[in-house]
Amino acid sequence: MTLLTRLRTARSVLGLGRAPRLEPPSGLTEVPESIAIIMDGNGRWAKERHLPVGAGHRAGARALKRVVRAASDAGVKDLTVFSFSTENWTRPDGEVSELMNLFGELIDREVPELNEERVQLRFVGRLDVLDEGLRRRIASAEETTAGNQGLRLFVAMNYGSRGEIVDAARRFAAECGPEAGEAEFAQFLYAPEMRDPELVIRTSGEQRLSNFLLWQSAYAELHFSPRMWPDFGPEDLEEAIAEYGRRHRRFGGR
Ligand code: IPE
Ligand code: IPE
Ligand code: MG
Repeated sequence: MTLLTRLRTARSVLGLGRAPRLEPPSGLTEVPESIAIIMDGNGRWAKERHLPVGAGHRAGARALKRVVRAASDAGVKDLTVFSFSTENWTRPDGEVSELMNLFGELIDREVPELNEERVQLRFVGRLDVLDEGLRRRIASAEETTAGNQGLRLFVAMNYGSRGEIVDAARRFAAECGPEAGEAEFAQFLYAPEMRDPELVIRTSGEQRLSNFLLWQSAYAELHFSPRMWPDFGPEDLEEAIAEYGRRHRRFGGR
């Protein structure tokens, strides 16, 4: 149990409720301002337990809640999570509709608490094709939390990085002249305010990006965890951050 978890447990045993923001756990010298996570392994987690895939996605949602809190406590400023890719529509209809329902339910249930914790929510992806009820919830969640000054949580939904780059390229070509460069191009990404992730974490042992933040991750450090996403917890996040702190980032220099 880490220091942070111990302090939090002690507070809840004493009935003090949610602990206020604590100092980053000792040993975490350098905490990235921006982290992105490919939350993978829900299906395998469920299969190992002879549970339906939907139970894996629900367990994944619980893991997300814990990790958002831990990231915020560690001092991370931007957290971007991959929740549904443009390629995930090829999954069986039942799984896709269960996921869409789950997203709606999660927004209804979690936004009040996230709002209390001053989390600012932003959804990135081709949102216009999502069902109307979900779009309405997304708009309302963004509006409710827009003024919050805590962690910015970017949820990548119906997101594909190549699609994002094509969407941006169209507008860049239409609106910018030949002198415009990378910085101007980046203004056309879905969330230009998002800091480039310094650390990208993928769970479940797979070592690929699966069309996630290809532009933004140009110089990100990559961390692959063998844990299935529903089992990924605050300690795993701390471990990823600690490993990041030991990396030597060169950006092409010496
Ligand atoms: C990630 O878990 C969640 C989504 C892609 C929506 P998976 O459902 O991909 O889990 P595995 O890879 O099948 O184990
Ligand atoms: C990436 O996981 C998408 C999300 C985590 C939402 P996938 O499970 O879809 O990726 P592949 O198919 O293993 O590359
Ligand atoms: Mg997967």
